[in-house]
Amino acid sequence: MEETQKKQIVLSAVQPTGTPTLGNYLGAFKNWKMMANDMQEEYDCFYAVADLHSITVRLKPADLRRQTLEMYAFLLALGIDPEKNVVFIQSHVPEHAQLAWILNCHTQFGEASRMTQFKDKSEKHPENINVGLFSYPVLMAADILLYQADYVPVGDDQKQHLEITRDIAERFNGIYGDVFTVPKPFIHKAGARVMSLQDPTKKMSKSDTNVKGFISMLDDDSTIMKKVKSAVTDSEAKVYHGEGKDGINNLMEIYSCCTGKSFEEIEKEFDGKGYGDFKSAVGEAVIEELRPVKEEYLRLMGDKGYLMKCAAEGAEKAEYFARRTLRKTMKKVGFLQL
Ligand code: TYM
Repeated sequence: MEETQKKQIVLSAVQPTGTPTLGNYLGAFKNWKMMANDMQEEYDCFYAVADLHSITVRLKPADLRRQTLEMYAFLLALGIDPEKNVVFIQSHVPEHAQLAWILNCHTQFGEASRMTQFKDKSEKHPENINVGLFSYPVLMAADILLYQADYVPVGDDQKQHLEITRDIAERFNGIYGDVFTVPKPFIHKAGARVMSLQDPTKKMSKSDTNVKGFISMLDDDSTIMKKVKSAVTDSEAKVYHGEGKDGINNLMEIYSCCTGKSFEEIEKEFDGKGYGDFKSAVGEAVIEELRPVKEEYLRLMGDKGYLMKCAAEGAEKAEYFARRTLRKTMKKVGFLQL
């Protein structure tokens, strides 16, 4: 990676809290891959497994270890070349936690309290509302600002965290002079919010207790088809995008992301046909979309030595950039330099 050339920098991350879902894939991963392989823009891409973030919820140590490597394998399985991009594990780069502390001291209690994800997660886990859960978005800001990212490809649910990141960066720059690039969210309209198949007013999530609500990226073909076929819809039996048709809207969005067809084209394709035909087509499209990633993932999981080697190289490359920003930040704040 040439550091003298000013390319647009892209950073994003995913928590290793289980097998990723179709929501993670369409909302984030697909765009990560697209940006990593964009020959025209030639972005410098940094993609991380956010393992530090995932311990805000209690995890068994062995599960954390296994899930971290599994998620790392997923990132490579997407077709993101670890030689041309920086693919790493957050805890391998200690600068993330160091910068997070400095940013914590420049974040107001009130603004962190307004984060809806904090409120939601505190309600879900009333027995473990830890300080990490509260300062979670500040660590996320550190992830982004350490690499001077221009763009952060995420799903819609991370928008508020991007806003607080921008606020923190602007405040910091206002006090100390230009230290951080102020990042922009990159949210593709299609797929930005994939909804639960069982309750299409709620986001599809891997932590859903009803497994029929989400499609896991490792579900086999018949499970994917069954889940799509049992998706909640409405009684109108007409395929079109409209108000009050949350279930069909969601399936149309999924179908559109997997096939590249517009809503108009989809409406034409299923004109006069029932939901049965439509659901079969959606199921097939999802199966085809996920198949190559799943196959590559299974192949990579058989070569842990290779994964560990890539993770070590990724950490080394990431740290080079992270250290540079942290040093600059510490100098600006006034820490005594050795
Ligand atoms: P996480 O691990 O929950 O999700 C990873 C990415 O998947 C997107 N996503 C979805 N998109 C559309 N529809 C859905 N149903 C859906 N579910 C998940 C998320 O928006 C996200 O882009 N805090 C982050 C991880 C993180 C991060 C960062 C992201 C840590 N540091 C720095 C960007 C930059 C999270 O929990 O994502």
